Amino acid sequence: MARWMSARDDAELAQAASRLFQAHFSQEPEGVWAAPGRVNVIGDHVDYAGGISIPFALQANTAIAIRRSGQPTYRVVSLAPGQSEAAKVEIPINEVGPGNPDNWAGYVVGAIWAAIEAGVIPCAEGLDMAIVSDVPVGSGLSSSAALECSAALGALELATGRSATQPERTALVDACIRAENEVVGASTGGLDQRASLFGQEGKALVIDFQEGETTLVPFDLSGHGLVLLIADTNAPHALNDGQYASRRGVIDDVTAAMGANTLREVDNAVVRAAAWAEEEGRDAEVTCKRVKHVVEETDRTAEAAKALEADDLTRFAQLMRDSHESLRDQYEVVTPELESVFQAVGQRGSRMTGGGFGGSVITLVAEDEVPAVAERIVQAALDKDFPEPTFMVATPGNGARRIA
Ligand code: GLA
Repeated sequence: MARWMSARDDAELAQAASRLFQAHFSQEPEGVWAAPGRVNVIGDHVDYAGGISIPFALQANTAIAIRRSGQPTYRVVSLAPGQSEAAKVEIPINEVGPGNPDNWAGYVVGAIWAAIEAGVIPCAEGLDMAIVSDVPVGSGLSSSAALECSAALGALELATGRSATQPERTALVDACIRAENEVVGASTGGLDQRASLFGQEGKALVIDFQEGETTLVPFDLSGHGLVLLIADTNAPHALNDGQYASRRGVIDDVTAAMGANTLREVDNAVVRAAAWAEEEGRDAEVTCKRVKHVVEETDRTAEAAKALEADDLTRFAQLMRDSHESLRDQYEVVTPELESVFQAVGQRGSRMTGGGFGGSVITLVAEDEVPAVAERIVQAALDKDFPEPTFMVATPGNGARRIA
């Protein structure tokens, strides 16, 4: 029998976060906030290049219970999915900054630090925080953005005593990206934070990173009898281990060499990148492949947005497959575990999602075929001695919000 990931509703999650808070701080929290993980339906490794992505917020969330402590420190306890022992970190407010703390708490207090630096959170004050989560870690489903966004939104709303405005949410996106880049040291691009702060039930987001525009579009597969099945390979990935940065580095170098702000602005990018790589003594073949992926993936995602609008899921499914193959063959971020899932689902619309190097694969599956497809994915993994994948049927949920 395939194993399924579970996600609690807002009330259950708020209660769990409050309970953890009380157990550690012997008081009630002042409020509880939640922020979701995300699945990226198409458009990967293009956000940092001014491309287009179509993510949606998951119904699986991270919740944070917060209380102002009046002390000059942040105290954070966290219970990761599936764990029984909470992890604890205490850090003086004035020690938070680039590179510190260099552990999971960097996402939490780093996001608050960056929001204070940006002037979005009006002042620094000591906070006690307790975190529980249903977003699996290292699964390509943005557990880090869920941590950052819930903490930053909670700290902001607690400090101001009101709900965050849309411009404040936009500023929080930037603060969370800064936390991830500078405090945690992962050079990620902003897709995850936008999805987590701006997601909406029933909708996917078409994000154009060049224009800085996000459009909500209906995402409902049920009219076609389909669901979106996530298979987490359980082969964990980390985006601050250098592999992600090595991919991004090529794109940033080419962009800078062309005197552009983003790769999207560069005409004939593939040809020009190849000429530049030759001149610079870089590997022209690799440079070309990386640039080609980014250019084509952006075009593909623009077409996917049109296919969605026209309710043409046959075309959409084909674009998903093309995207996966490009991430595998040109961008080279697909691991054998991810490929095993992609091969196991036959010709269905399917692709790895997120940063790659491990994580999850998403597939469009007819509702009544879900158990059989999941079994096939499990069997394919076990045959190769890979970890056993776990599953979730994903529908778009709401973005970051107060839940208690
Ligand atoms: C990770 C990063 C995002 C994005 C994706 C790939 O999720 O955090 O910024 O680059 O990988 O699309």
